[in-house]
Amino acid sequence: MAEVEDPTALLIMAVRDLYDGESALAGRLASVRANATDQGFAAFIAADAERSTRQQEQLAAIARSLGEAPGGQVNIWLRAILDDADNDAATIAAGPLRDIAMTGALRKAKQSERVSYETAIALAELLGLDDAAATFTVMRDEEQAADEALAEILQRLCAGQSRS
Ligand SMILES: [Fe+2]
Repeated sequence: MAEVEDPTALLIMAVRDLYDGESALAGRLASVRANATDQGFAAFIAADAERSTRQQEQLAAIARSLGEAPGGQVNIWLRAILDDADNDAATIAAGPLRDIAMTGALRKAKQSERVSYETAIALAELLGLDDAAATFTVMRDEEQAADEALAEILQRLCAGQSRS
């Protein structure tokens, strides 16, 4: 039987999904970072882990403000993307090519988060939850900025590569 029957329940589901995604990033980015070679890319990953931890805490606060616990849902998409980044490390020799592949995996994560935050923004606006909508908007913009930073890292890594 379906349990989600109104916008509030759907927003709670969205918050829980985002919470698990941020939790997965916060918990697993250290090992992703250990597989990166480029110092700038590694620094980005470290900053993204800190950002994810903070966003995770913000999502928990929003869930609690809605009278719900934040956990209990698995963000299958984000966790699969992190598996993909681990697989890149297992199959591609350490160095620029692995870093290039891993920027692709992490960009998928940022875009996944960006569109998920947009769903949360829309639902919060629908429900008149202005503070939550504003918080989600900041986080959506953070994901967008993070993706743009990864795009620049990708260009820099590729600029240092020969074609052979
Ligand atoms: Fe995030």
